[in-house]
Amino acid sequence: MKYIAVYPGTFDPLTYGHLDIIIRASKICDELVVGVADNTNKSILFSSKQRVSMIKQQINKLSLDEDIKKNIKVCSFVGLLTDFARNIEAKIIIRGLRAVSDFEYEFQMASTNKRLKPDLDTVFLTASEQQHFVASSLVKEVVRLGGDVKSFVPIEIAKELKNYFKNN
Ligand code: COA
Repeated sequence: MKYIAVYPGTFDPLTYGHLDIIIRASKICDELVVGVADNTNKSILFSSKQRVSMIKQQINKLSLDEDIKKNIKVCSFVGLLTDFARNIEAKIIIRGLRAVSDFEYEFQMASTNKRLKPDLDTVFLTASEQQHFVASSLVKEVVRLGGDVKSFVPIEIAKELKNYFKNN
């Protein structure tokens, strides 16, 4: 049996923090599906198509074993995460835990998802030390105000963000 995990998020945009979780999660399951949420109530800069394509581009660039890399899929989903997990036959949800402040929200979400789909468990990976404070919205704010975000996001994503704020 294939052990499939889903790593869901908004990824608007993908940061080094997310990439760190993707790399580590890919090594503990047979297949990792990065699930890009299409209908969140957050205000989103990039379309789900753009976010999926940015994530795929960065995964291609990772220096991971080709066997591991080909087991990482990226796709967008609408509706409930538990329904998406059911469709792709995922057995676990992967979430990154950055700080104590994440815990309450993550605990609520994991418990709600468990109630909705009891055979689906959430596994938490602690964010790496260098990235534990990174958040997509802060990255966006720094770019909007003219700051440099190359240590938070890959260079291609930093450029996309810069372009976005130049044109909007
Ligand atoms: N490193 C760096 N940043 C991280 C991170 C990590 N390891 N983990 C999370 N973050 C950041 C994200 O970039 C995000 O930043 P932002 O708020 O500034 O955009 C922030 O932390 C919060 O992230 P997260 O809690 O993962 O929210 P999200 O918006 O990325 O994802 C979904 C939430 C999509 C998983 C959730 O809303 C969902 O499942 N939606 C589907 C509908 C559903 O089923 N709802 C019921 C859920 S119980």
